[in-house]
Amino acid sequence: MKKKLKIGMIGYNFMGKAHSSAWRQVGRFFDLPVEIELHTICGRTPSKVEKARETLGWKKASTDWREVVNDPEIDIIDINTPNDTHAEIAIAAARAGKAILCEKPLARNVAEAEAMVAAVKEAGVVNMVCHNYRRIPAIALVKKMIDDGLLGDRIYHYRARYAQDWITDPNFPLVWRLRSEIAGSGTHGDIDAHIIDLGRYLVGEIAEVCGIMETFITERPLPDGSGFGKVTVDDAVSWIGRFRNGAMANLEATRFANGRKNHITLEINGSKGSLYFDFEDMNRLKFFSTEDPQGLQGFRDILVTEGVHPYLNAWWPPGHIIGYEHTFTNTIADFVQAVLKGCSVHPTFEDGLANERVLAAVQESARKRAWVSL
Ligand SMILES: NC(=O)c1ccc[n+]([C@@H]2O[C@H](COP(=O)([O-])OP(=O)(O)OC[C@H]3O[C@@H](n4cnc5c(N)ncnc54)[C@H](O)[C@@H]3O)[C@@H](O)[C@H]2O)c1
Repeated sequence: MKKKLKIGMIGYNFMGKAHSSAWRQVGRFFDLPVEIELHTICGRTPSKVEKARETLGWKKASTDWREVVNDPEIDIIDINTPNDTHAEIAIAAARAGKAILCEKPLARNVAEAEAMVAAVKEAGVVNMVCHNYRRIPAIALVKKMIDDGLLGDRIYHYRARYAQDWITDPNFPLVWRLRSEIAGSGTHGDIDAHIIDLGRYLVGEIAEVCGIMETFITERPLPDGSGFGKVTVDDAVSWIGRFRNGAMANLEATRFANGRKNHITLEINGSKGSLYFDFEDMNRLKFFSTEDPQGLQGFRDILVTEGVHPYLNAWWPPGHIIGYEHTFTNTIADFVQAVLKGCSVHPTFEDGLANERVLAAVQESARKRAWVSL
């Protein structure tokens, strides 16, 4: 009989739904030597968590995350709650000896992230941050192409933009993502964190930064209709920087780009070529090589759907494209393998902490109107 891994998942809304889908599907597409049991789902409101349990396919429901974290039957804690709860839940889960998958950003700030790293190190538990965009097959292919030298031995530029438009309406309510005591920061920790993570993954560590941040709408209606509250996070951030290897960084994240829904674009230019990726066309990668014959040079359009491409062996025949939810299943497949080996897999909590340090440096730079070194 196959060994079983039992999952306890905290939070059942947007990410809870995405992760539940991945936990349900992972063993059906990836050849794992283990059975996955969706053991307990947790939220605060009994009727809502019970409904989520039924809809998302979990065995038990709980309204107390401490009970889930301390349940001796559970092997893995998967954290999908707002950012202010990540540290407390993860530290308790580490002390209870559980493997931990935590949503990004790892925490609200560097101090919380440091405490989380210390806790997982002390407990020796497997840990991972869910920067699922690393597991888009086209992005994993970018990583392989850079490592194989296809862009040359020098990277000159990393340019990334993450643009959305869901809060451009001034009457959009003051949800938790717009309150610093819950979210930490705004667009910065929410979506800039993803393109920072991709920059660290694909190009290297960041050495210095210079940024600007803006809050365009400073007051919004409270969700319960009782009046107005202050927006205490950034709406947009833009920064330049330098990687330790000399590459230049140019990043922008905004929730004020009307018409842009989940627009993630990357361009990386190296001494032998360039790569371009657009999430809204996530099965494709554009590659320019200076080694192509003169007169025939131009951006190639690679449809990243073949068995030779990362993760695609687990999915469909060539040309049968995949989508957003597959990025979570690919992430969880790697996480499960890591749990079985007893060895963390990237991006680890240490990566989450490194990310927080970049976020904090950009915030400091914007505040001081000056360059900040890391
Ligand atoms: N990887 C990604 O691309 C991605 C995308 C969206 C969100 N996120 C991250 O996922 C996390 C959750 O975001 P979301 O969009 O799913 O939020 P959400 O508001 O949609 O859902 C939050 C969930 O947490 C639950 N919750 C809140 N406090 C709780 C508590 N004390 N105990 C138990 N449950 C509690 C809520 O009931 C809800 O089910 C955030 O950290 C966010 O940054 C990551």
